[in-house]
Amino acid sequence: MKIIITKNYKTLSTLAASLVIKQIKKKKSSIFGLPTGHTPQGLYQELTNIYNNKQISFKFVKTFNLDEYVGIRAKDSRSYHSYMQKNFFNKIDIKKTNIYLPNEEADDLKKECANYEKLIKKFPIDLLILGIGHDGHIGFNEPGSKFSSKTRTINLLATTKASNAKYFGGQKKVPTQAITMGLSTIMKAKKIILLVSGNDKANIIKKALKEKITQKIPASILQKHPDATIILDETAATKLIKLL
Ligand code: F6R
Repeated sequence: MKIIITKNYKTLSTLAASLVIKQIKKKKSSIFGLPTGHTPQGLYQELTNIYNNKQISFKFVKTFNLDEYVGIRAKDSRSYHSYMQKNFFNKIDIKKTNIYLPNEEADDLKKECANYEKLIKKFPIDLLILGIGHDGHIGFNEPGSKFSSKTRTINLLATTKASNAKYFGGQKKVPTQAITMGLSTIMKAKKIILLVSGNDKANIIKKALKEKITQKIPASILQKHPDATIILDETAATKLIKLL
């Protein structure tokens, strides 16, 4: 595991963008795993800027999103489909047919999850980018998720609903379920980058990286990944710095 501490959120985002660009330069048809949320917004903005300066093309790139809410239609502005379109896909030259997100509108969600897993097996992820939840979740793999878990539906915990309440106008309005790549799906990615920003993540990231590997803290499994890079800004790293 490589741990990089950057000065602030801007430098975290610039560094992450440079690693994405490096990957595309190495392989035009790279396959990415992508998160939503607050943390990657700066990364998507940086990548859009680089694209606008005509320094990169996403034409041959494929993307798989980590997760999507159940019960929120793709067209709803609060869905992760909409988030990705608005923050990234609408702004670059990626082909629609190369974009994959779990489809909560499928009649049979079990089948949808199995198909998503199968697709990822067919198109192995070269570089997967992650954020971390306050309870240590990655994707929507909440504490207690099995390390062997695959793409599936999952019940969201109160901590996650509280963190995401701002997007729904209150915790009670946050969907109760989501579809998420599993922890074993995530661990199969060839490279992983975990982005961590802000003081409110200092505690959980210290636990995930410096304490024992446990299903109670799903992100702790990343300690076992052969090519994982953790990029933190200084505020997120306050509890870690003394231990490095
Ligand atoms: C979202 C996802 C989640 C987030 C995590 C952190 O697609 O996979 O695991 O990365 O909840 O969210 P933010 O960045 O909003 O703090």
